[in-house]
Amino acid sequence: MSSTPKAKRPKPNGDDDEIMASPAMKRFIEDQKFLSSQSIPTALTPKIMETPKLPDSKRMKILVTGGAGFVGSHLVDKLMMQGHEVIVLDNFFTGQKKNIEHWMHHPSFSLVRHDVTLPILLEVDQIYHLACPASPPHYQYNPVKTIKTSTLGTCNMLGLAKRVHARILLASTSEVYGDPLVHPQPESYWGNVNTLGPRSCYDEGKRVAETMMYAYKNQNNVSTRIARIFNTFGPRMHPNDGRVVSNFIIQALQNKDITIYGDGSYTRSFQYVSDLVEGLVKLMNSEYDAPCNIGNPDEYSIKAFAETVKEMTKSKSKITYLPKVKDDPTQRQADITTAKRELDWEPKVHVKEGLRKTIDFFQAMLDVEGEIEPTGPDAAKPKGK
Ligand SMILES: NC(=O)c1ccc[n+]([C@@H]2O[C@H](COP(=O)([O-])OP(=O)(O)OC[C@H]3O[C@@H](n4cnc5c(N)ncnc54)[C@H](O)[C@@H]3O)[C@@H](O)[C@H]2O)c1
Repeated sequence: MSSTPKAKRPKPNGDDDEIMASPAMKRFIEDQKFLSSQSIPTALTPKIMETPKLPDSKRMKILVTGGAGFVGSHLVDKLMMQGHEVIVLDNFFTGQKKNIEHWMHHPSFSLVRHDVTLPILLEVDQIYHLACPASPPHYQYNPVKTIKTSTLGTCNMLGLAKRVHARILLASTSEVYGDPLVHPQPESYWGNVNTLGPRSCYDEGKRVAETMMYAYKNQNNVSTRIARIFNTFGPRMHPNDGRVVSNFIIQALQNKDITIYGDGSYTRSFQYVSDLVEGLVKLMNSEYDAPCNIGNPDEYSIKAFAETVKEMTKSKSKITYLPKVKDDPTQRQADITTAKRELDWEPKVHVKEGLRKTIDFFQAMLDVEGEIEPTGPDAAKPKGK
């Protein structure tokens, strides 16, 4: 552990302000700040989390791109707690250091600040490729960058997988089905996607990414997995991501109007993040290499969902209606027959149970921040770090 000097503890009845203002103490604090910025464990480092020791034969080096984001950080928790060595690669566009800071000083954890649109060489056994903004306001903020992230980024990660013989899993999306004409959506459905709309940079980017996975698998024998992820929610969602779950909860907790875009009759299915992470890990370690839906088929109309959030937060908010957002799909429900059959996976967390945890998370955030202004449907730069 650390060889840095220990902080002189203020005497119980001493003058704390005087000690803190002393030149020696100021120098000490500056030194500690510098050391933590260099990722060297210091005396001020929080307790290092205990993780299981896996035998070398089972222990893998796993890269998680986008690991500082909402889903990625929960996946990192799971892989670390399984005893693997984890490398997070993230450019912190929507990701936040606080999502992974509890691993910062763990000897099995590394963080690389890097953009996936640029190549990188690392020695790894598996790659979970999640890097890509996922909420419409964030991915529409810089559509060109979003497309580059999905296309160049996936190409770079596939190139890495090919070079080091790693298996790679792509976090694809139910958005590849666009505004679906088949309901619920099985993996065999080809989708109904607008190539020129505001969501196209994301939807088409992911479709190309899937095609690249297919090409590298067939041409170069890369071991690939494709997860088509449906709406997911839980703690560590970005408070300004403009998504239904975070917006409704933040509005309800502050007794602000709960805003529905459209008449609220369109439907979504919501899965809790721990179910998704379980599904991703099962898919990665299975023999199934065709696209696989991971979602909770429990379908809600947006109006019913707003009412549930209002009731669970005991909110005085009014539910209000604004014009429908362009190209917003009218219905979405995962057909999870494949995941049940191939992975023996199905969601375990009921939406209300997940909502309770997510409401508690946003309440704690509001207690610190005072007020949060939810983001509307228009393109927006992610706030905060
Ligand atoms: N959350 C969902 O409901 C959902 C649904 C379908 C698919 N997905 C997919 O799952 C993945 C993770 O989604 P999320 O909800 O955690 O989103 P998120 O925005 O919280 O996380 C994305 C992460 O990728 C990083 N990133 C973005 N562009 C990057 C780049 N060019 N280089 C390196 N890092 C970059 C961000 O900083 C962030 O940490 C995404 O690929 C998304 O498309 C999510």
